[in-house]
Formats: sequence, structure tokens, C-alpha cells
Amino acid sequence: MSGGQFVSNCTADAMARAAEVLASGALVAFPTETVYGLGADATSADAVARIYEVKGRPADHPLIVHIADMHDIAQWSDDTPDYAIALARAFWPGPMTLILKRSPLAKDFITGGQETVGLRVPNHVVALALLNEFKKIGGKGIAAPSANRFGHVSPTNADAVSNELSEYLSSEDLILDGGASLVGVESTIIDCTTESPKILRPGAITEEMIEEVSKLQLSYDATDIRVSGALDNHYSPAAQVLLDIEPQPGDGYIALSRFETPEGVHRLASPKNEEEFARLMYAALRSADTQKLSRVVVKEPEGGGISIAIRDRLQRASRGR
Ligand code: TXA
Ligand code: MG
Repeated sequence: MSGGQFVSNCTADAMARAAEVLASGALVAFPTETVYGLGADATSADAVARIYEVKGRPADHPLIVHIADMHDIAQWSDDTPDYAIALARAFWPGPMTLILKRSPLAKDFITGGQETVGLRVPNHVVALALLNEFKKIGGKGIAAPSANRFGHVSPTNADAVSNELSEYLSSEDLILDGGASLVGVESTIIDCTTESPKILRPGAITEEMIEEVSKLQLSYDATDIRVSGALDNHYSPAAQVLLDIEPQPGDGYIALSRFETPEGVHRLASPKNEEEFARLMYAALRSADTQKLSRVVVKEPEGGGISIAIRDRLQRASRGR
């Protein structure tokens, strides 16, 4: 029944073997600083088809291609604007995905038939080791969505990946255990196909950071926001997610540590600040399901920075599966 070998000892040897697994067309779930990804050879239609199968995701959704370093941009995209190069230089490896005009290497099975491709260099030793080993044997990039079933909460540790996917993985597939993801919410997605950058999904790389580096004002276009959010992930646990109401006895509760836990409420996380909130949030939502709670109340952090990404995901989660 359950597949996907668990690899907790991510030595150089183990990474070289994991790269061979990718090259053979099988899947490798791997840690990144944002969330865990479910990886496949980004040039193989068959390998990428297995991602969709395992995730239960509609096949017309584009995937992010993970690359070893910014020099690999040129393989995957054409006409990259200067501001995108500046962003890559400033924030890669890191929690940022650039949407660029695709090169012929980025086939329809990666881009969902769009003329653009999403690229990211993740900031995690295991992910970078895997990317570099894969590159050594001719790999051009690793396509990887978050390693959860479609619509579910993204996994931020290897156990969560295993709980989500092991019944759908086969014995050739691997799950690399690189500890808990340090950022905890998915990368900022930036559309770089227009005159000035546009945020499609908020993340740890904020509006201010992007404007400072690109020296451009972000453009806004309400109709584009749908690309990466509303249609796609709902980031939802089985429990009902309720925002900013008073928790009742029996409810799960996630809030910054300065908020007290009312009598009879199950506290699922008490992060000290917004960064820790982002890091713990998905595991806390998952624990509501492990504890078989029917409701989880979350007090959203206020303000800018990473809190914008936190509220974005929580609002989607609150719409349910
Ligand atoms: O942090 C992350 O970005 C994680 C880690 C594993 O890197 N990945 C991730 O992938 O969140 P996924 O597939 O769960 O979400 C990627 C989002 C999707 O909503 C997809 O629609 C959007 O990126 N996307 C990918 N390529 C795109 C493109 N060419 N144009 C517009 N949106 C794109
Ligand atoms: Mg996802």
C-alpha cells in the first residue's frame, strides 16, 4: 500500500542517489525553506504526469521549476527583464518565484500551456544539494509543487509529506527528510512579464523588498491575482478554519503568544512573533486534524511583512476544502 522510501540521512551519497531517482522518472519529495516540494524531472512529460497523479491536481495547472542557481534562468526563459535579474541576484537562493517568458525547454506540461514559466532557486542545503547532483548528471531543473494533495495544507516537515502522500507514492519514490521548513509559507510569486513586477502570491519576500531592489513601483491588476490563489490551493485542513472570533471550549486555537487561551480551548500554537507564526502555522492546522477537532480558530497577525502572506493563506483556508 504505502510507498515512498523515507531518507533521513541526507549525505552527499544519498543526494547523488536521489538525483538518479529523479533521472529515472520517479518522484523525490524534498525540503525547501518555504514548504516541502514533490519533485520530478522538469523535462520529462511522464515524470511530471506522475506529480499530477500523486497530488490529485488538475493537469492544466503550471508548476514551478526549481533550478540550482540563477545562471540556469537562461535555459528556461527568454527575454528576461533586467529587474528580474536584479531580483534573482538579491533574493536567490530564497523564497521567491519569478514568472518569466518561457524558452522552448519549458513545455506545455510544465507551464499549463501558458507562454510563461515559474522559476525558483530554493534556499535549503538539501534542496540545493539535490539540484546540484541532478545537474551533474544532466538534469535541467526539478518541477515541484508543494507536496500535499490538491487543496490541502502544504507540508512543512517530512512526516507531513508522508501522511499526505505515502499511499499514492510508489516504492521507487523518495521522501527526503531535511527537518522543518524555516519560512513556513510558500514563495512570493512575482510576474516579471510586464514593464514592472506584479505580486501574484504574497510570501516572505515583501512588496517593499521588491520595490527597493527593482527600483520600480509594483503594478496591480486585480484580475491576475486569480492565477496562483483562488483557483488553486485552499490550504485547508479537514477542520473548519474560523478567523478572529472568540474560540469556544473544544475548539483549536492558533494565536500569537500574547493572547491567552480561554478555558477548555486546545492551544495548537503560540508563536512569539509573525515569522514564527508563519513557520508553525501549517503544522498547527494539521495538528487540528490529528486531534480530530472540528473547528480551529485563528487570530490573524496584523500589519505588513510576512503577515500579509499569513492572512492570504488563512483566508483561503477559511473557505474550506
Ligand atoms: O514555495 C513554493 O513556491 C513551493 C516550494 C515547493 O517551492 N512550491 C509551491 O508550488 O508552492 P505550488 O505548485 O503548490 O504553487 C505554485 C503556484 C501555483 O499556484 C501555480 O499556479 C503558480 O505557482 N504558477 C506556476 N507557474 C506559473 C506560471 N507560469 N504563471 C502563473 N502562475 C504560475
Ligand atoms: Mg501548493
